[in-house]
Amino acid sequence: MTSLNSFAAGEISNTQIPQLHGAGDDKTGYETKYYTTKSKALTTRVGKKTDLLSLIKQPPLGLPNVPIPANNPISVEKIALGRKLFYDRRLSLNSTFSCAMCHVPEQGFTHNELATAVGLEGRSGRRNSPTLFNIAYAEKLFHDGREDTLEQQVWGPLLAHNEMGNPSPGVVLRKIRTLNDYNGLFENVFNKPVNMETLGMALATYQRSLNSANSPFDQWYFGHNDAAVTPSVKRGFKLFRGKANCIACHTVNNDSAVFTDHKLHNTGHGFSVSTYQRPKKQRLLVAPGQYIEIDSDLFDSVSEKKPNDVGLYEITEDPADRWKYKTPTLRNISLTAPYMHDGAFKTLEEVVNFYNHGGTPNEELDPLIKPLGLTPNEIQDILAFLNSLTGSNVDELIADGFAAPVGDTQ
Ligand code: HEC
Ligand code: HEC
Repeated sequence: MTSLNSFAAGEISNTQIPQLHGAGDDKTGYETKYYTTKSKALTTRVGKKTDLLSLIKQPPLGLPNVPIPANNPISVEKIALGRKLFYDRRLSLNSTFSCAMCHVPEQGFTHNELATAVGLEGRSGRRNSPTLFNIAYAEKLFHDGREDTLEQQVWGPLLAHNEMGNPSPGVVLRKIRTLNDYNGLFENVFNKPVNMETLGMALATYQRSLNSANSPFDQWYFGHNDAAVTPSVKRGFKLFRGKANCIACHTVNNDSAVFTDHKLHNTGHGFSVSTYQRPKKQRLLVAPGQYIEIDSDLFDSVSEKKPNDVGLYEITEDPADRWKYKTPTLRNISLTAPYMHDGAFKTLEEVVNFYNHGGTPNEELDPLIKPLGLTPNEIQDILAFLNSLTGSNVDELIADGFAAPVGDTQ
């Protein structure tokens, strides 16, 4: 069997890259006893390095220039070092958990099977792993926008007890210093050993290369190829800009689009989750087709209770900021289910229906969210448009991820 490690040696397959995205298992049919897994086996993986530097220097059609901080210039070696770190399981306290295990390349650099993230030793979190496609353009990071540079952001997951579990930066840095395969790599790139700053800079630089566009929408709208999309997509975009006014927050410019205004808004979704009254009894699915009914109190005692989530308020303590979350990009949106900060919506149709009903009314609801009166056909057109936003180089970026070493301990 071909293992991931054989790709570590830089083995490059000459075969064409098969369709790699959509791997993972959405568990459709799990409630029946006829369920079989749809996970793609490791053996179908094809590792193939791609030219990540070019993706930063000349991002695909539809994306603006990549902003690069003056104090962290890009280089081939720096991208390679960041890529090695990103897939390296040894960066977690017990050497089992890498960044890529929540931001899974073949699952849209998010996690299609989990509404909210699960970190090392099965410790659960309260939020959905966001996609890292086109993260280079994000002006604010995390669902509540609490961090503003990729360089700093990495210390969030590295130190979170329910993500990679390291008790301190020192523990991470000391470990990397003792790993032979990192010998001289940081010195070569930064003229400095690994430290809090250089570790963040390397990881940030790799993430800045995950640029994916030139989607059918881009080829039509920015590339002027009229045949690139169906009439339904064109109608959907018209509604997106007009009647539904999605564009007010999911921004599109004249020559490029990242589909976000980089701001935080209250759509009412966070409000409805926070104020949800759970029923007294709950049905618990324990195996395909097998339910048991248990008391909600008992349910809480067996599963770790999810802490409440009030979004931006947690950072500013301003009551007007309750349930405000960052506007996410919509690029590659058909690959990044489930949706919203807590992964509550499984399909894009659920999301569009949510907006069509005017979100969930609450005191701080954003004035741009109101009932839209979209007809079923109009909803189908908006969905066709959203599905036209998948970049042409997605499989290339996935295959590149498969070609990276995962840092198995001997
Ligand atoms: C246990 C799962 C998990 C691991 C491991 C993990 N992340 Fe994340 N990541 C998340 C979740 C969940 C969020 C959103 C958290 C929030 O908003 O509070 C996130 C957010 C991010 C963001 C911000 C994205 C955005 O749109 O704002 C970046 C960048 C990121 N992670 C990179 C990394 C890197 C680099 C690593 C490894 C050092 C890593 N992550 C490890 C789950 C994970
Ligand atoms: C007032 C600003 C605003 C408007 C208008 C708006 N959105 Fe959003 N959108 C957001 C925010 C904020 C989120 C994140 C909410 C959360 O995480 O709870 C979001 C999330 C989404 C998501 C889920 C993305 C993901 O990765 O989880 C989709 C899809 C989406 N919006 C599509 C649309 C469509 C289609 C419309 C028009 C019908 C629209 N939005 C109108 C601000 C807006």
